[in-house]
Amino acid sequence: MATYIETHPTGNYHIHAEFSWSTEVEMGDLLYGLVRQIKPDLVFEDGAGMGHATYMLGKACLDNGKGKVVSCENNESYYQIAAGRVEGLPVDMQLQSTPCCPAVEDADFIFADGDNENRMKCFDRAKPGCVFVIHDTNEKALADFVRAKGGLVFNFGRGFGLIIK
Ligand SMILES: C[S@@+](CC[C@H](N)C(=O)[O-])C[C@H]1O[C@@H](n2cnc3c(N)ncnc32)[C@H](O)[C@@H]1O
Repeated sequence: MATYIETHPTGNYHIHAEFSWSTEVEMGDLLYGLVRQIKPDLVFEDGAGMGHATYMLGKACLDNGKGKVVSCENNESYYQIAAGRVEGLPVDMQLQSTPCCPAVEDADFIFADGDNENRMKCFDRAKPGCVFVIHDTNEKALADFVRAKGGLVFNFGRGFGLIIK
């Protein structure tokens, strides 16, 4: 696992991740723990990238003995990598753009990690009661969005927001 140093207005911080823009290892651990605790029937991931979080979400559903993940990735190369690493897990990898995916509306748990505009649109489409985790709230627009929706912003690593819709 590599360590990357990123710069933010509040200072430099260290990121532990497989690739420079992969979800942090610790964020993956947190997602695993949340899904283990909440035991959702349907998890949706917006933006699989190379599948670090996808794997952790899928492993949590497997360990729960229930639930599955639908994960959208619109870049074919990344999709292939993510699909390869979640083989054997209850993960339905989809090569498509998040707005085209109806699973957003049925999910009990969403991890929003695609492009900024769609991360916010995912929340608008989520059903009431959905647990919504949005990544990269070190970006002010995303942090402002979470606060405007009554959620909590955690300024650690790249930052994340937590909202119950
Ligand atoms: C920050 S990376 C995701 C990292 C990943 N969740 C992980 O665990 O490492 C963002 C990803 O979202 C994808 N993406 C961007 N816009 C998207 C969209 N509209 N629909 C689906 N995927 C999208 C990008 O191709 C990129 O792979």
